[in-house]
Amino acid sequence: MSFVDQNLQNFYLHRVQAQLKTSPRVLEVGVGVRSIFSDLPQNFQEILSLDFNHELLEQAAAYPNKNSPHQFVCADFLGLSSTPFDLVFDAHCFHCLVKEDQPVSYLKKAHELLYPEGILAFECMIRKEFKSPVIDIEDLLWHSGEPIRYIPVSQTIEQMVQATGFELIFFRVNLSFLFTPIKSRPELCFPLLQVVAKKKA
Ligand SMILES: C[S@@+](CC[C@H](N)C(=O)[O-])C[C@H]1O[C@@H](n2cnc3c(N)ncnc32)[C@H](O)[C@@H]1O
Repeated sequence: MSFVDQNLQNFYLHRVQAQLKTSPRVLEVGVGVRSIFSDLPQNFQEILSLDFNHELLEQAAAYPNKNSPHQFVCADFLGLSSTPFDLVFDAHCFHCLVKEDQPVSYLKKAHELLYPEGILAFECMIRKEFKSPVIDIEDLLWHSGEPIRYIPVSQTIEQMVQATGFELIFFRVNLSFLFTPIKSRPELCFPLLQVVAKKKA
């Protein structure tokens, strides 16, 4: 499923873009079937869109991309090595990190891959209540016997991002739009958190 919609584009255009230098080098993590950068009217030095799911990545690469150079790379973000980026951008990959320590590893990897004062921006689900009937003490939502989503309270993410060496620039929970992670269970829905953070120099 693609979640490149107006809400996400507005997040980029109104909260992220102003933080970037002209012609930034961008890494998009967990692109899925559509890159948000395919349709954006902006100059980029380079866009590297990453996903470890080859089939999804092929669909994203086949879309008529307006920006170039735009590369699509099949790789695990947590093991990525690269020259630095000005922006690491992620729509809904962070809440897919369901193995122990993966959220912390993700933030450390983003920090490693950014220039000093580079920007990490992501959108992910959070839950409102500390005790939830559907999420376990490891902050995991389960479905069909498997942990499928990492959905902590926003305070957990706030502390993790700051502890990794980022300064928070924008941190907002959108309570007016609820996201349903399991389509067959529409009663389970969660607010989205948008984060923009700068790597400390
Ligand atoms: C929920 S989807 C979101 C896709 C897209 N960004 C969107 O908003 O529609 C999360 C994507 O992240 C990818 N992903 C999850 N963990 C990853 C990792 N460690 N490295 C690269 N891609 C990953 C998945 O394959 C999936 O395509």
